[in-house]
Amino acid sequence: NSAQIGVTGLAVMGRNLARNFARNGYAVALHNRTAARTHALVEEFGSEGDFIATETAKEFVAALERPRRLVIMVKAGEPTDAVIQEFAPLLEPGDMIIDGGNAHFADTRRRERELREQGIHFVGAGISGGEEGALNGPSIMPGGPVESYESLGPMLEKISAKAEDGSPCVTHVGPDGAGHFVKMVHNGIEYADMQLIGEAYQLLRDVAGYSPAQIADIFRTWNTGRLDSYLIEITAEVLSHVDAATGKPFVDVVQDQAEQKGTGRWTVQIALDLGVPVSGIAEAVFARSLSGHSALREASRGLAGPSATALSESEASAFADQVEQALYASKIVSYTQGFHEVSAGSAEYDWNIDLGAVASIWRGGCIIRAAFLDRIRAAYDARADLPSLLSDDTFAQEIAAAQDDWRAVLVSAVQQGVPTPGFAAALAYYDALRAERLPAALTQGQRDFFGAHTYRRTDREGSFHTLWGGDRSEVSG
Ligand code: 6PG
Repeated sequence: NSAQIGVTGLAVMGRNLARNFARNGYAVALHNRTAARTHALVEEFGSEGDFIATETAKEFVAALERPRRLVIMVKAGEPTDAVIQEFAPLLEPGDMIIDGGNAHFADTRRRERELREQGIHFVGAGISGGEEGALNGPSIMPGGPVESYESLGPMLEKISAKAEDGSPCVTHVGPDGAGHFVKMVHNGIEYADMQLIGEAYQLLRDVAGYSPAQIADIFRTWNTGRLDSYLIEITAEVLSHVDAATGKPFVDVVQDQAEQKGTGRWTVQIALDLGVPVSGIAEAVFARSLSGHSALREASRGLAGPSATALSESEASAFADQVEQALYASKIVSYTQGFHEVSAGSAEYDWNIDLGAVASIWRGGCIIRAAFLDRIRAAYDARADLPSLLSDDTFAQEIAAAQDDWRAVLVSAVQQGVPTPGFAAALAYYDALRAERLPAALTQGQRDFFGAHTYRRTDREGSFHTLWGGDRSEVSG
């Protein structure tokens, strides 16, 4: 009856999270569907802290102090429901179930509602940082009832990553599915970041003519500046890695077909429902799916197009500087789009999410951790109702300074036939937002022409319809 927390599901994420709690001085009850894994953990890492190995659901629940805190670390979807069904009957009002998987926030909302009837607090918590993060400090995005955060918060704060200023990378994001929603958007931004980095790499390779090792060095340099981030850092590691079997750059022996588990796709699906233009994230998801259509790509290889021409050494180096500008500007746009989705989700579901706090807990531990998140935090802290990140003066000025190079990079990409959907979508978003007039006016005219869908005028209130088939006079709609 003495464990402060229990973890069920001891695959690598669950195992590392359990060890993290134990290393921080908490007594941790362990449970896994097959008990062998539980015992293996204790055998291997038992010396790290206070573990209580249990074999059955009953034993597990009995090992927890009240109110019970039970973390489930199993696959999202049906396995999560199965585990909840197994444990919920054994719990009492006030107990907490924390789902640390990558659940869809709609499932989290449903589970929270169902368990609430039983008096159980269900906390859907996004956890980011991979295996490493789970063990040494992840970024944690818990949702669920705010009361549960009173006792859970301090524990999560202890095991979480700390930002550079020492603040823990965890906060109560909002009620029910808010935490998993924010984790979903985190992953969408992760996809966009990875796509943009991929485009930068491809341009440096094909247009500038650099080798993977040289590009790794360029990324290392970028990582000392405003692009300083985990993803840029590991990109340099991946690019400088040489395959032992062939002696070739590792990146050249890996099949160029990107896989996905679904969180990026969800981010786009939900954005479509909410009417939020996350074009950069969408392009990243589509780029992954395009890469996987091998037969289609094979069939298309003969299509005409320019081939890239090599640049001189000094041209290449100047081009690399421009690519840095394009990458940074596009990155600002993807975060702008991601934060827009968080704010739209928050409004739709009444979550009251603090965007500054979200930026703050992404500063450490998670996959998209980056130095510039501290400035996003500052932008929202200064003005919680910021219409968009692009309305923040500092970001607007940075984009203003980057835009000539951003455009030049896209011109080269287009002329030389290097696909850069992420850079292009970001720039199109930027130009559309700042446009005085959009062709949406024409769209409205077309809709009215073929479907009498009506339009609104710039100079008068009301809705109108033009009698296109008749004398083209205008009637009030
Ligand atoms: C994280 C990661 C993690 C997982 C991704 C991978 O935040 O730690 O996002 O959740 O590695 O979901 O996603 P794909 O397999 O879809 O690329």
